[in-house]
Amino acid sequence: MRKTIVAGNWKLNGESSLCNAFVDAAQSFDSRATEVLICPPAVWMMLLAEGLASSSWQVGGQNIASDKSGAFTGEISASMLQAAGATYCIVGHSERREIFGESSAVVAQKVRIAIEQNLTPIVCVGENLACREAGSAEAFVETQLLESLKGIDSDKLRNVVIAYEPIWAIGTGVTASTEQAQAMHAHIRSVLSQSIDVDGELISLLYGGSVKPSNAKELLAQNDIDGALVGGASLNVEDFLAIVEAAG
Ligand code: PGA
Repeated sequence: MRKTIVAGNWKLNGESSLCNAFVDAAQSFDSRATEVLICPPAVWMMLLAEGLASSSWQVGGQNIASDKSGAFTGEISASMLQAAGATYCIVGHSERREIFGESSAVVAQKVRIAIEQNLTPIVCVGENLACREAGSAEAFVETQLLESLKGIDSDKLRNVVIAYEPIWAIGTGVTASTEQAQAMHAHIRSVLSQSIDVDGELISLLYGGSVKPSNAKELLAQNDIDGALVGGASLNVEDFLAIVEAAG
């Protein structure tokens, strides 16, 4: 059985008041099969983790260092995040890849470190608009996926989560159509099984890119979409709860 996961990615947003609002919401939320996760800025990790400890909700990092320790000013390690309460970590988000120049080789290193520290990596892949319009989205995502998981033992990959986030849909209000999203997810699942020697049927695949209450139900009803990675709508308690409800 694959896990259904709804993860909120606050990016560079949110104050302690937002943490408190989510802690309150989580207390009155019935726990159900869906795994709910908030990825706040790292400085709020402990506050949020402590507040959510009595609920079923979890916290995750938005990024980790590609090294375990050392002279890397400004970086945060996987073990530090884990000590602060994180159980998951987003790795290779397109903003990290595009704005901070993270290559897939660096992403693979981060995936390896996350697994070693018992953090479940949510590995992001996704094409830009030019690539989609050129008809090469599937080939691009396949290469990105293979490179981002390169060198990691297939038995360890069993616990990896993949997020498909088309760059043209992130923060734009334009969502991939359910057909586009489902087709890419099915492709990712078959690449996992055929090229990486991990049973793709067991891996949770999240969709991200302008997920909101109005489109969540339809997206999450697709066979190969096992959850959502939510940016903008995760900054609003009501919207985020509506997306969690849509996941069932
Ligand atoms: P968005 O962001 O929901 O605001 O499009 C998604 C993401 O970047 O993870």
